[in-house]
Amino acid sequence: MTLTPQQLATTASEEGSATALANPNIALVKYWGKRDEALILPWTGSLSLTLDAAPTTTTVRLTDTPDDVVLLGGRPLEGTARSRVTRFIDLVRALADRDERVSVDSHNEIPTGAGLASSASGFAALALAASTAFGLDLDRRALSRLARRGSGSASRSIFDGIAVWHAGHDDESSFAEAVPAPGLELGMVLTVLDARAKSVSSRDGMRRTVDTSPYYPAWVERTPVELEEMLAAITRADFTAVGTIAERNAMRMHATMLGAEPPVRYWGPASVELLDLVANLRGDGLECYATMDAGPNVKILCRADAVDELAARILEAQPHIGVIPARAGRGARLITSEPGGSAGEQTTEGAR
Ligand code: PMV
Repeated sequence: MTLTPQQLATTASEEGSATALANPNIALVKYWGKRDEALILPWTGSLSLTLDAAPTTTTVRLTDTPDDVVLLGGRPLEGTARSRVTRFIDLVRALADRDERVSVDSHNEIPTGAGLASSASGFAALALAASTAFGLDLDRRALSRLARRGSGSASRSIFDGIAVWHAGHDDESSFAEAVPAPGLELGMVLTVLDARAKSVSSRDGMRRTVDTSPYYPAWVERTPVELEEMLAAITRADFTAVGTIAERNAMRMHATMLGAEPPVRYWGPASVELLDLVANLRGDGLECYATMDAGPNVKILCRADAVDELAARILEAQPHIGVIPARAGRGARLITSEPGGSAGEQTTEGAR
């Protein structure tokens, strides 16, 4: 079926219903620690690459049910996972000054809660789908601020390619925006060493680090400097500097967590093997750099034209692991979903 742009726009945001797609982003300068947990204001700014792989697709529909219904991968969410979504929907209801209940139907292509940025794609897609379903037409900055309230890193998945999240000091001033990167074609290979959900949530891991790690003040002092260095490296399209800063910053984030009481450690032996592999590949002339988040899965930054070779070399060394090759991708957008089809499976890209 071919739809005109007008039909696409109408179908994508029919009154009371909208479907949005958002990709995960991986931070090259990390966000770790909140100065305000309610508003999700970070201690430091951060910078990331939105990928072109493993999206979340979310449909939000206004309903006349007595309660919100929240499905992830076709199954009802319960407990804290559910209330995190319904509290977020409360924010959207307040913004729109409306009180209808909703059904939320969300599908992740990436394992959920394994440090593979599913909360970034998840809350970015939810922010766009829910705000549209409630009739709000938020600009990208307002959308980024809204997504931030669901999961800090989601503020960055609103944008194409590289995005910087300005720490700010209040709800208004804490938002992400796109960073132009002419001449810098980035790629990334995500490794899936362990797809299980992590045992310490990033929220708890951050809180414990902020409250107990004697190294945390050094993180807060250094990260703005590293962010400036990273922005300068991007402006120069200096891939070597971008990779070097990203890898160092990731190690420093994990170092500050290791100083917490009790320590927060997301990596395991398989992660360390991958870190060694990255160093060896680099020694062999395949320029790549490792980064890791709140989980054991190592992500490897490379030039866009080296993604396939890198994925092949990783699989050659570690045939049993999963790899997801990716390049710079688009930010959150509305899509249409065919009637009767489940969101994310039969979709036609919409205009916005
Ligand atoms: O947005 P959250 O609460 O899932 O935190 C993400 C934190 C890291 O992924 C570890 C770093 C980052 O900047 O994305």
